Amino acid sequence: MVLVTGGLGYIGSHTVVSLQEIGLKTLIVDNLSNSTKNVLNGIEKACGTLPKFFEMDLVNRNQVKSLFKNNKIDAIIHFAAYKSVSESVNYPVKYYDNNINSLLNLLKEVENVEKTFPFIFSSSCTVYGDSDKQPLSENSEIKKAFSPYGNTKQICEEIIIDFCKVNSNIKPVFLRYFNPIGAHHSNEIGELPLGKPQNLVPFITQTAAGLHDELIVFGNDYNTHDGTNIRDYIHVVDLSNAHVSALNFAEKKMKNKYEIFNVGTGHGFSVLDVIKTFEKISGEKLNFSFGKRRNGDVTCAYANCDKSKKELGWKCVHSLDDALQSAWNWEKKIRKID
Ligand code: UD1
Repeated sequence: MVLVTGGLGYIGSHTVVSLQEIGLKTLIVDNLSNSTKNVLNGIEKACGTLPKFFEMDLVNRNQVKSLFKNNKIDAIIHFAAYKSVSESVNYPVKYYDNNINSLLNLLKEVENVEKTFPFIFSSSCTVYGDSDKQPLSENSEIKKAFSPYGNTKQICEEIIIDFCKVNSNIKPVFLRYFNPIGAHHSNEIGELPLGKPQNLVPFITQTAAGLHDELIVFGNDYNTHDGTNIRDYIHVVDLSNAHVSALNFAEKKMKNKYEIFNVGTGHGFSVLDVIKTFEKISGEKLNFSFGKRRNGDVTCAYANCDKSKKELGWKCVHSLDDALQSAWNWEKKIRKID
């Protein structure tokens, strides 16, 4: 049984579908802080199997103890974490408490169990900070984090590295995600931001659906081809499939104590590129204007994925067009737009 923490969230739910599609059994734990139980129905419709689910909080040590006592866990994929860069700047204690204590509680249980767990950790390209050397490879310098959110990812990576030096019963694989977008091709699960979205693509699709008057592009004076930020937008299904490859790698091929992989497409697109591509695939004219730079934004971040391709045997199969089309299909479905 694969324990998927935060398995009702955006990337978690898509990964559960990818795991179940190849016949793996999953156990989701989620505290519903940024998701709803309805996602379970979407997962079942997308892949035909209802996963096991416990509503629980990993910050609660006793709940984590009984989770391990009462279930046969063979592998762990740890998504559960708060993820808003801007919120983390305003509520640093909330972020450090949740993101770090959840991990520590999991590791305290792993430490007590006499078996070896593949352990896939959701990390982020945010650990590279603002780098003028692009594309970013796994060996790129780790700069001081731009936000408490980014710092929790750096700290969690370090905790796991220290832990695996003295505990051989964990095989950690860090997946450093670039910018996941889009929705499952079944159109049964997708991104469901609670409240006003912070991320670009849900803000674009919600604006096109009429939920906001306009999109503000945060800055057009960056040193890029059109002045707007560049990111590596990866289809969430490609990202989910990387977790399946990472599990397989941890179980069968891992030689080092831990391993780090970038998960992106290898292509950088500016905010304006994304807007233009969205307008092309949707046929909608997007209302947008230029605003000030957003605190914490780096100019440019895109991946070198050579290591992931070679060692995980994984690659992206979806284009930016595919990803934006699926995001738009999902938005239209949830807003009941024809
Ligand atoms: C960052 C991290 C990513 C992490 C994510 C969590 C980096 C390079 N990436 O994504 O790893 O998973 O936070 O949330 O640190 N934008 C607008 N208007 C909007 C919204 C966004 O112009 O209304 C622009 C942003 O300025 C940015 C781009 O769109 O240039 C993407 O922003 P967003 O989707 O929020 O993701 P990141 O901040 O890049």
